[in-house]
Amino acid sequence: MSAKPADQLDEQAEKSLDPDDWEELRALGHRAFDDVIEYLKTVRERPVWQPLPQAARDLFSEPLPLEPSPREQVYDEVRDHILPYPTGNIHPRFWSWVGGTGTPTQLLADLVMSAMNAAGLGFDEVASTHVEIQLLNWLKTMLGYPADASGLLVSGGSMANLVGLAVARTHMAPYDVRDSGVNVSEHPRLIYYASSETHSSVRKAIELIGLGSASLHIVPVRDDYTIDIDELHHAIASDRTAGHLPACIIANAGTVNTGAVDPINVLVDLALQENLWVHADAAFGAFAKLSASSASLVDGLERVDSLAFDLHKWLYVQYDCGCVLVRAQESHKDTFSVIPAYLRNFDRGLASGPINFSEYGVQLSRSFKALRAWMGLRTEGVERYGQQIEQNIRQARYLTSLVEDEPDLELLAPTAMNIVNFRFIANGFDDEQLNGLNAEILMRLQERGIAAPSSTELRGRFSIRVAICNHRSRRSDFEALVNAVKEIGQELLS
Ligand SMILES: Cc1ncc(COP(=O)(O)O)c(C=O)c1O
Repeated sequence: MSAKPADQLDEQAEKSLDPDDWEELRALGHRAFDDVIEYLKTVRERPVWQPLPQAARDLFSEPLPLEPSPREQVYDEVRDHILPYPTGNIHPRFWSWVGGTGTPTQLLADLVMSAMNAAGLGFDEVASTHVEIQLLNWLKTMLGYPADASGLLVSGGSMANLVGLAVARTHMAPYDVRDSGVNVSEHPRLIYYASSETHSSVRKAIELIGLGSASLHIVPVRDDYTIDIDELHHAIASDRTAGHLPACIIANAGTVNTGAVDPINVLVDLALQENLWVHADAAFGAFAKLSASSASLVDGLERVDSLAFDLHKWLYVQYDCGCVLVRAQESHKDTFSVIPAYLRNFDRGLASGPINFSEYGVQLSRSFKALRAWMGLRTEGVERYGQQIEQNIRQARYLTSLVEDEPDLELLAPTAMNIVNFRFIANGFDDEQLNGLNAEILMRLQERGIAAPSSTELRGRFSIRVAICNHRSRRSDFEALVNAVKEIGQELLS
């Protein structure tokens, strides 16, 4: 080997990305922390949402920086042009999609996570590995899921569904699907069953794992938006007759539109009879298990073969954090395990950690997101979370009663848990006109920064949809929403 030029070996010339002045960073950090504490403390005083002003848009069209800028200046840009324009899910009147609120305690976790910059491998014998395993064990306990189940933290419900449905495929295929790929020319097509209210991530997952959406048999729902069990029986029988292989039932524990919960125990019993896998998409509904009044709604979750849920929704954990649990640990591992020499585990040293998380999912490097939930649970205690969830359920019931008492408003679906669907109605308006009217009401609610519900369509009717995973909402916020919808509705009529 030729010797390196002397200037490349000159230690004086070597640099890192650490600050030259640590004290300056410390002072800026204190200021930034004060700013975000104030920001969260005063969130109620600001609009739920506001559009980006031109100054922010200008910043986002600046070209790639080639030269350094002072750290303080960059932070000021963030404070002035980014921080004021959040999605709004930290606000007490945010109820769009299934947005979670997060908690201030987890700011501390984010600081520590970022400082440690852990790779989340699991086979590294470090504190972050043990925090994550402990959190997974706590989650199993909270949900009554078997203690020997395997589990993995992932980005969210979509990824958790992908992992669970991939395990179902490997487990149910009567051939080595990892080796040959999905092979419908030589083997029967695996069929997955899900109600028409199932989240789009399930279809995406089924397409991604190579089954194709032709393998997703959509089953109609009943009036309450839960899966029609008779239709499911017929679907399974007709697929068998057609030579397909019924493989998996997807149970919804909280549908995204209305929060409807499929009869999970009935689905598990049917799956046992028919020899099918049951995967539950319990993205938010899983944590109804912690509520005093509604835990029984999700009875049976503890029996499913794989369970997907989000911590960033109804466990108030900062984005992003989802989880998948799998009853048959071996099937889970059989689906994802690939261990090359460079990822080998040892008896001693750094790589002697207890688990290789990459054997249970798609990712290798992962953030230490477990710390947020871990700190949240240790700080608040699980009972407090249960009370918050119960509070959201009661708020949904309260909003439902407000809607029912208002002649100008119409409830569009039964309120099963924490999601309320309603619309403004007007004499002589047909559904199409009401759809337009309610879409405009929603736009004005959001644009005026009053409240941020989202929308959906239920049996052809545009619905103002309020999903409550928000520990900051108060009873008066729902009164304000109802009043604003009525006022804007009347304003549009006149
Ligand atoms: C029922 C259901 N499943 C899956 C998802 C997808 O979850 P994520 O956005 O965390 O990927 C959602 C999101 O709202 C959902 O409500």
